[in-house]
Amino acid sequence: MSRLCHRFGQFDFIYSHPLNLGRISNRFGLTKICDLPLAPPDQAKSNASQRNTMPGIIKERLFTPGPTPVLMEAQVRAMARNLHHRTEEFRQIMKATVEHLRYYFNTQHDMVVFASSGTGAMEGAITNLLSPQDRALVGTAGKFGERWLALAQAYGVEAVKVESPYGQPVNIAEMKRQLETNGPFRAVYIQATETSTGVMNDVKTLAAIVKSYPETCLVVDAITGLGTSELNPDEWGLDIVIGGSQKATMIPPGLAFASLSPKAIQAMEKARLPRYYFDYLKERKNLAKGETAYTPATSLVVGLHTALEYIRQLGRENLIANAAMLAAATRAAVQALGLKLFAESSPANAVTAVRAPQGMDSGVIIKDMRTRFGTVVSNGQGTMKGQIFRLAHLGYYDVCDLFAAVAALEISLQKVGFAVELGSGVRAAQEVYLKHEGVPRAAHS
Ligand SMILES: Cc1ncc(COP(=O)(O)O)c(C=O)c1O
Repeated sequence: MSRLCHRFGQFDFIYSHPLNLGRISNRFGLTKICDLPLAPPDQAKSNASQRNTMPGIIKERLFTPGPTPVLMEAQVRAMARNLHHRTEEFRQIMKATVEHLRYYFNTQHDMVVFASSGTGAMEGAITNLLSPQDRALVGTAGKFGERWLALAQAYGVEAVKVESPYGQPVNIAEMKRQLETNGPFRAVYIQATETSTGVMNDVKTLAAIVKSYPETCLVVDAITGLGTSELNPDEWGLDIVIGGSQKATMIPPGLAFASLSPKAIQAMEKARLPRYYFDYLKERKNLAKGETAYTPATSLVVGLHTALEYIRQLGRENLIANAAMLAAATRAAVQALGLKLFAESSPANAVTAVRAPQGMDSGVIIKDMRTRFGTVVSNGQGTMKGQIFRLAHLGYYDVCDLFAAVAALEISLQKVGFAVELGSGVRAAQEVYLKHEGVPRAAHS
């Protein structure tokens, strides 16, 4: 233990975490408080080699589209309780959390909650709706659209794809044509926001089309769409909407949730694909009593309950407006710096994808931001790796977070050899902020 402290102590740069106390157990089960930050040693080492820079504190800040910054109250309350799930107290928390989820989703539909990442609920939306002979229609324009195809393939389901190039939204007119000429389809799958490209899809128009097919359900992966874009499952006819905890709900990864329309529930009663853990109907029945079939992630549920209380106080529309303002400011900032947006025609509010300067690998910028400032932004995925970087603004971000990220980006760009006028990106973001000043935002607690 003391050697560990000593080793961390050698470094000039101290990476700080809001909860900067590490409680470490030794092998005799005793615990000891180490008053040192939870430092990523590899980063600290790489900074130690940059001895010509000023020693100081570097705070790690996530600008990734999941995990996102967590609401401190939610994290603290989640850690402070160790509830048993088969108790009345937990059932009450679970029931209240489901009510809050309905508010967050803007729906009266039934909910299911799983202890998994979002992909678990996506898998469930395949296995619970479809039978082996069914066909699915998938709108894809990025890595998460491709995940629908991979899931369908894993279960031997025929999936017809409508594919748009990365950076563009799903072609809704082509989805309509497929429904009219190539059906029947038991279900249609799409993303509200394609996180890998920073694109927002036109779910409302697609829903109006699918509504006239009584045998076809519409499934929306809104894992980064919830809390960042307007969705109205009940009026529009979104049969399954999927969310994940590490996004705009401001808590760590580990929970997936979905809303189920009456049409989806009817379809599920007939669906025959194999399933076990991700059994929507079983969980829907349990959740009505505040129960889950298997052990729930109790502390994450407590955290979610707290975070959703905060979101209710703030207002769902204000949470969305906050993301929209930050997205507009981010776009203005990067364009003022001479960079190009990856998603030009339909950019998302959740995340902004930015093209790297010509001839430069985006990883170089990402690395400099991370090592110099502890500012963590995402690279592109798959073939987009090295071509773009992605700055997130969904959930618990405020405009000062953005000013800081843009200021860091400006310096990093300059350091890696892309000339920028320092302050020009920040100024563009400030101007967008001033235009949106009337938008109410979260008073922080
Ligand atoms: C749109 C979208 N769909 C699906 C996923 C997969 O979710 P998870 O990584 O929680 O399984 C993500 C994660 O970033 C996402 O953004």
